[in-house]
Amino acid sequence: MTTILLLSGPNLDQLGVRSPEVYGAQTLDEHVSRVRALAEGLGYTLRHRQSNHEGDLIEEVNAAREAAVGIIINAGALTHTSWALADALASFPGVVVEVHLSNPAAREPFRHTSTVAGVVDGTIAGFGGLGYDLAVEALHRLLQRRGD
Ligand code: DQA
Repeated sequence: MTTILLLSGPNLDQLGVRSPEVYGAQTLDEHVSRVRALAEGLGYTLRHRQSNHEGDLIEEVNAAREAAVGIIINAGALTHTSWALADALASFPGVVVEVHLSNPAAREPFRHTSTVAGVVDGTIAGFGGLGYDLAVEALHRLLQRRGD
């Protein structure tokens, strides 16, 4: 099993038009294409799902327990509110990397809390799209370290 699940939360389907000064000009499809090429170069298959609905993301995480070795997740604003998503991620046995395009710690106070930060292996934030590339590399190295 060598699938990586890339999960994109609410409003990330709007990348490219949504606050480009904060999130950059690239679309989600452009990020996904780049991540897919990087993941495939390392021998993985990439599955990507974007949803604006919390339950969809939770079901993807739970299904990944049997189907993926790792998860890269940008949960969007659910990062700051969803204990249910955090519970799902906590029971995923593989590697989980949290990504944010912006640096939430440098923004409004409500973005300073991440429900998922405590249940992921690590967080990459503030590097724009580069964060996704770094996440693939981090995930791969952590899996190698685990011997998967
Ligand atoms: C985000 C940061 C969140 O606070 C915000 O709600 C998003 C995007 C980021 O990638 O920087 O939707 O996760």
